[in-house]
Amino acid sequence: MKKNPDGLKIPIEVPALLCAWYESHARALPFRETKDPYCVWLSEIMLQQTRMETVVPYYRRFLSAFPSVRALAEADENHVLKLWEGLGYYSRARNLQKAAKIVVTEHQGIFPADPAEIQKLPGIGAYTAGAVASLCYDLPTPAVDGNVLRVAARLLKIETPVDTTPMKYAITEALRKIYPPAGAGKCGIFTQSLMELGALVCLPNTEPLCEACPLKEICRAHKSGIAAELPFLSAKHPKKEEALTVLILSAGGRVAIRKREKKGLLSSLWEFPNVKGLLPPTAFPALLAGFGLKCGKPAADLEAVHVFTHIRWRMRAWLLPCAVQNKEKTPPDFVWATLEELSRVYALPTAFRKFLKLLG
Ligand code: ADE
Repeated sequence: MKKNPDGLKIPIEVPALLCAWYESHARALPFRETKDPYCVWLSEIMLQQTRMETVVPYYRRFLSAFPSVRALAEADENHVLKLWEGLGYYSRARNLQKAAKIVVTEHQGIFPADPAEIQKLPGIGAYTAGAVASLCYDLPTPAVDGNVLRVAARLLKIETPVDTTPMKYAITEALRKIYPPAGAGKCGIFTQSLMELGALVCLPNTEPLCEACPLKEICRAHKSGIAAELPFLSAKHPKKEEALTVLILSAGGRVAIRKREKKGLLSSLWEFPNVKGLLPPTAFPALLAGFGLKCGKPAADLEAVHVFTHIRWRMRAWLLPCAVQNKEKTPPDFVWATLEELSRVYALPTAFRKFLKLLG
């Protein structure tokens, strides 16, 4: 790693400047009204890969279904996934429930306060542990997410990629040195203020609002006129592309869905039956005969692309009116659901929800 000329030293006045700014600029958000670690943890997990406007209604719905860590621990996994439907990165929801079970069985239902203990829970890394410990327990534990990395990259004019493990660690440690002391009521505010500055002022790409920034006098990137050019991020691997033919099999007002495998992409969620590759419609009669179904002509079709972290699906869905011809051959995992059941019961990820419009 190329060393920053001065090492990573964050000016000592940053917490006071940011905390003062935060008092008059912070957004009112539902999870800022509580120090309940369950609520804060939930919000931070939801916010990790999802935008604030999307998260807030999900957060409210999730908490009214599962108002306590105990309620989440005891919930049916399908119900948890249904409430996560559309948020993506579903392993977050599964880990949340796994962690809730551990909090109940190993911590008497009380969320641990020690960051090292918090970090042992499934799905919780240094960021979430730091956020919960500082926001709920007033501990000087930095929570370094993408927003905070960007703020640090500009403030310190870091001209190497900041999204690497050593750099994240160096920024975390530099922040730790200037955190307000534990128990004085400021640790959580400082954590929030860093995130809020990244979300409202120190915006990504070409849009930093430097004139509105409480750190502009001490920001090295701003002084050099290069705030918009930072941060540098490491080169991403190109995504693998996979083509998929999706079968919207409709019979008697119902549509076939099946549950995905317990492991891998979108595990344990529901999907429309699909096969790899882009098949021509001439292939459908034989394919469906294998499912014990007789199909008519495709009634409609729709193309869509869905992008995941490492893979991109190029999908073409076909609406196929069909009739069960041989019950013995219909795959035992097919569930014939009504549209009402699809919207109320089964967690169908966005990649497949896109095709609901074929059903009118
Ligand atoms: N992004 C992630 N967590 C956040 C929080 N607590 N406030 C604002 N933005 C966030």
